[in-house]
Amino acid sequence: MFIKVLGSAAGGGFPQINCNCRNCAGVRAGLPGFRSRTQSSVAVSRDGQAWVLLNASPDLRQQVAAAPEVAPHGQAAPRHSPIKAVVLTNGDVDHVTGLLSLREGVAFSLYGTDRVLGTLAANTIFNVLDARLVPRVPLEIGEPIELANSGTSLGLTVEAFAVPGKIALYLEDPGAGPKLGSQDGDAIGLRIADSTSGAAFFYIPACASVDDALAARLREAQLVLFDGTLYRDDEMVAQGLSTKTGKRMGHISMSGADGSMAALQDLNVRRRVFVHINNSNPVLREDSVEHAKVREAGWDIAFDGMEIRL
Ligand code: MLT
Ligand code: MN
Ligand code: ZN
Repeated sequence: MFIKVLGSAAGGGFPQINCNCRNCAGVRAGLPGFRSRTQSSVAVSRDGQAWVLLNASPDLRQQVAAAPEVAPHGQAAPRHSPIKAVVLTNGDVDHVTGLLSLREGVAFSLYGTDRVLGTLAANTIFNVLDARLVPRVPLEIGEPIELANSGTSLGLTVEAFAVPGKIALYLEDPGAGPKLGSQDGDAIGLRIADSTSGAAFFYIPACASVDDALAARLREAQLVLFDGTLYRDDEMVAQGLSTKTGKRMGHISMSGADGSMAALQDLNVRRRVFVHINNSNPVLREDSVEHAKVREAGWDIAFDGMEIRL
């Protein structure tokens, strides 16, 4: 199984269009120790030929230009794409708007929970995806499904599971109580398995906390790609970028007693990689104390173009 990180940044990317924080200014200036990052997406393939996108980033066109595997190539018909399926983990802008860049008349299968597919159905701009070419397939929580396109298996099995989290920002309903209208399953993680070899990894780009159920699920995993939005819960507030904490945004922090590094420390996960990294996160400065601490704790920090083989 081939895994390629197409975009390692959170919503907004790195640098973010309107941001002049220390990190964004640094990467814009081309300072050493910084690399730009596009918004959240991972590509996976069993055979290196047919690819599945885990989330479709607003930067998809740029990502495909940088990743020949997912661009048209070889002897196929002049109009074709190696992207045979897209699996959505939520309705966030950074995870669904790339679908609009896939509107050019090529067939692929679109997987999401009923809630996310309902959000797409309610937004008629997504009707630009021709339903005859792009079937929308419901992902049922806890029911593994073999990914396929046009009747051909892609050799990968995906299981969706609910993780602590919330609905997309633009769906928040302030009148709906403290959960803002979020329901169980509005944030999901994915377990992706090679249907033949059984090799498997977890992809969890948005997660508010690691509860007992999630910890048990991740124990002994070969590979976990995990929400690396923030290093500290209040870092955006402290930097004057936002009034929101990570907890308010539905994102666990890397550090702290209830952070992801502590939560996964004793789970015997073979490889841990942070994805969906926000531009405010000090780990994006390769010479920072925080970067060193994350590396010492045994985590990798994803970058665009990172490749992993399982
Ligand atoms: C998030 O992960 O919190 C969202 O992607 C934020 C956004 O909509 O940019
Ligand atoms: Mn996001
Ligand atoms: Zn910034």
